[in-house]
Amino acid sequence: MTITLKHSQHSENAKAVNPDVTPVADALTDVLTDTYRLVLKTHACHWNVVGPIFYPIHQMTEEHYTDMFAAADVLAERIRALGKRASVNPVRMIDGLDPDADLAADEMVRGLLSDHETLSQRLYALVETAEISGDPVTADIATERAAFHDKAAWMLRATAA
Ligand SMILES: [Fe+2]
Repeated sequence: MTITLKHSQHSENAKAVNPDVTPVADALTDVLTDTYRLVLKTHACHWNVVGPIFYPIHQMTEEHYTDMFAAADVLAERIRALGKRASVNPVRMIDGLDPDADLAADEMVRGLLSDHETLSQRLYALVETAEISGDPVTADIATERAAFHDKAAWMLRATAA
């Protein structure tokens, strides 16, 4: 009897603090999909870049896709911790990716830069959504991911200059 009462109180408290996790989980799912998409795109640049800046781009892209692949797992596990199913949207994941595109190195860099900027903006919005939902854990994860994408964007911008 006492245990049931405690459990019930705990559930009510949790609900009061975080009434609906759906907006946060949905935003995390969007970020997860975009992260995988950028892993694929970054890998393609890593393999196919040619020209005088081949080596720095080859090295930088490896650092970026390694970080993002690990981050995808963190994002997916946060979705699970919120009680939602972790998945990526396969259609959106390949949206705009052209396997036959034969891009020059500077075009590749500008394409990656644009995607990092977009993901960063999405993550800033997620920080806000998470804070509104009383979810500091997701807000922290999103803040950390935004910092990564801002730094990646800076490196790519400096490379393209
Ligand atoms: Fe490699």
